[in-house]
Amino acid sequence: MWMDKKTATMKAAFVTSVGKVEIRDIPRPEPGKGQVLIRVRNAGICGSDLHLFLGTHAFRVLPAILGHEMAGEIAALGEGVEGWQLGEHVTVEPQLSCGTCAMCRQGRPNLCEKISVPGTPGWYGTFAEYFVAPVSCLYRMEKSLPFTSAVLTEPFAVAVHALRDAKPGPEDCCVILGAGTIGLLCLVAAGKIAGFSKVICTDTAPFNRELALRLGAAAAYDPLQENAEEEILRQTGGGAALTVVAAGAKDILNQASRVTRKCGEIRLVASLTRPIPYVAYDLAHKEQKLQGVWTYTSEDFAVAAQQINHGLDLHALVTQILPLDETQRGLEMLRDKTEDVAKILISL
Ligand SMILES: NC(=O)c1ccc[n+]([C@@H]2O[C@H](COP(=O)([O-])OP(=O)(O)OC[C@H]3O[C@@H](n4cnc5c(N)ncnc54)[C@H](O)[C@@H]3O)[C@@H](O)[C@H]2O)c1
Ligand SMILES: [Zn+2]
Ligand SMILES: [Zn+2]
Repeated sequence: MWMDKKTATMKAAFVTSVGKVEIRDIPRPEPGKGQVLIRVRNAGICGSDLHLFLGTHAFRVLPAILGHEMAGEIAALGEGVEGWQLGEHVTVEPQLSCGTCAMCRQGRPNLCEKISVPGTPGWYGTFAEYFVAPVSCLYRMEKSLPFTSAVLTEPFAVAVHALRDAKPGPEDCCVILGAGTIGLLCLVAAGKIAGFSKVICTDTAPFNRELALRLGAAAAYDPLQENAEEEILRQTGGGAALTVVAAGAKDILNQASRVTRKCGEIRLVASLTRPIPYVAYDLAHKEQKLQGVWTYTSEDFAVAAQQINHGLDLHALVTQILPLDETQRGLEMLRDKTEDVAKILISL
């Protein structure tokens, strides 16, 4: 053993009250039966961490350790773990479903009634030096791959889930409203996974629009620009077959309906935790479908891990890498957009 268990502690970033992060020393967890201990090397700040920081998270309660995105190396094996070695590089699918509820039985573990996720009682968050995970949630990542790539598997899995079953015709276009991390990853998945040949993005931030163009968008518009919707309708030949909502602005659902064609589909990925107005007339008279999207299944996660292991380069999305003790600054940066920002990583 590398150190005395009694004195083993680790640093972890907690949100202790709204808008306040504290780095605390806490006991290092130990892997139980069927679990591994992972030395975390990179964790990612996600929109849901921002919700926790802002006090708008739907179910996580304070104080809580931030984070569910991570990549690292196996530091210890719990009882009965076979087929995994110390030092292997891994990422974790951060959800544990019961396997027996109605949703689990329908192959929808992401909607499990008894789901367990990091940062809730019983499972520490990933903004910590060490993280424990059951082997059923582990994905092996290539040793040659930087942790800064492996850590993007989880947010990419969200995009894979949002787009994987889309079956675009040759003329069909995809529109993505919001080109933050999730919107940009949906852009990549729309091309690479679903096979859309034309994807158009919107974002209020010029930097994010530029990033969308770099990652393959045919065009990127400022949604507040007067003729943006007209332009999108023109570019898509009358509206998107599929519109992904990846931003939580007030008019976003109305805009989604306006830029989607008749019989087109809107997929809502953004977590709209506050009410926003929606004039549903277009939904009816254009016979559009509105579909919610929640995280991923293990199949989606495996697709994301495989793509990244096989060299899908998503590095353009990583705009800042900060040490753990600058977590507060990272969250403020994401909140205030004081710098050009997409994915902020924490380095441990
Ligand atoms: N459903 C899920 O499983 C899931 C998973 C992860 C994240 N999310 C949610 O998805 C959303 C996006 O996450 P993110 O990490 O990319 O957040 P983000 O804050 O990085 O991105 C949001 C982007 O939207 C842009 N924006 C703001 N107003 C806009 C408007 N009117 N039109 C277009 N763009 C606008 C912002 O400039 C920003 O670039 C969040 O609500 C997050 O909580 C959902
Ligand atoms: Zn995430
Ligand atoms: Zn279940």
